[in-house]
Amino acid sequence: MYVCLCQGVTDGQIREAIYEGCCSYREVRQATGVGTQCGKCACLAKEVVRDTLAELRGAQAAAAFPVEFVPA
Ligand code: FES
Repeated sequence: MYVCLCQGVTDGQIREAIYEGCCSYREVRQATGVGTQCGKCACLAKEVVRDTLAELRGAQAAAAFPVEFVPA
């Protein structure tokens, strides 16, 4: 789905930027150009960034403590 019509940036491109190392909306904006013209997409773009970072943190926490891990 297109998040930013001015720059033609999709939610998939925003997620990809985060998977490739962006850690904040500011970094995603620099990498993709999202929100750099009219700015109307900023709210939705920030939401996609926030959700994707939260998903990644959840996945990392699961990887760090697998289900079968039992602390002594
Ligand atoms: S819709 Fe993203 S800057 Fe205009």
